[in-house]
Amino acid sequence: MANLLSKENFAKIGEFIYRKSGIYLEVEKHYAKLAKYIDSRASELELDSFRKYFYTLRFDDREGVEFQELMNAITVNETYFFREKDQFEVLVNTILPELHKRTPSSKPIRILSSPCSTGEEPYSMILHIVEENNIVNERDIEVVGIDIDSKVINKAQTGKYSDRSIHAIPKNILSKWFDKAPFGYQLGEDLLGSVDFQVANIFDKAEMRKLGKFDVIFSRNMLIYFDDASRKEVAMTFYDMLNPGGYVLLGHAEYMSRIVSVFNAKKVDKTLIYQK
Ligand SMILES: C[S@@+](CC[C@H](N)C(=O)[O-])C[C@H]1O[C@@H](n2cnc3c(N)ncnc32)[C@H](O)[C@@H]1O
Repeated sequence: MANLLSKENFAKIGEFIYRKSGIYLEVEKHYAKLAKYIDSRASELELDSFRKYFYTLRFDDREGVEFQELMNAITVNETYFFREKDQFEVLVNTILPELHKRTPSSKPIRILSSPCSTGEEPYSMILHIVEENNIVNERDIEVVGIDIDSKVINKAQTGKYSDRSIHAIPKNILSKWFDKAPFGYQLGEDLLGSVDFQVANIFDKAEMRKLGKFDVIFSRNMLIYFDDASRKEVAMTFYDMLNPGGYVLLGHAEYMSRIVSVFNAKKVDKTLIYQK
């Protein structure tokens, strides 16, 4: 098979990807995967050089189809239900009761999972809320999940999960809300549709503005793929998207104090939360 991507061109397309998505690719780690993708995609499009493929991607992609294909190919979507479970406990036991008290009951409490990958994170929020929090009977709680990868968003909307994906859900909760299926587990009708899933790029200011304001933003295990400048930009986007007093929660290996100083860090048990 042709090898269309030279190391020099890797730098060019790497810069383009970084500028558009914040994802920072390193030649040592990512060259082989990207080269393979470009060979196969160029062949599908009947293009015989990197130059032609790159032209199509940059100048002949009005609907954004090529960019979407590229994003779907390079993102790392690893996730599972109840990952870093203590954060969901803090959400239902500390954050939601506080927000419930100080938010007028006519207003929904809005939670964003950004990025949500195949949906395990926002559905884990919902499972914790319905299992542990009776606030849900008294007011509207909206959960929105976004990801740049349209493939994972399509999958999230089906509610179909593998055995690996559900392994950390306690058996009683699993049997209550899921049905056993040949492929693993199907999220039941009661919760299917309880998350508003959307394809969105965190660096696209217009798309982010359209989502509206939130009271809580979970952003776990995405910033690790970005460099310092992109992390800062994302942190300030979250700041703008939060209502006053709203919270951000990051992944266990991510620290807001290393990125920006506009949030107040609080520790609840072992979990760090960041308040606007
Ligand atoms: C490792 S998953 C994390 C999923 C989940 N938050 C968790 O912690 O289990 C990282 C996700 O970030 C998404 N992503 C990467 N860059 C993005 C961007 N610029 N905008 C939105 N999502 C992005 C990827 O598509 C991928 O699904």
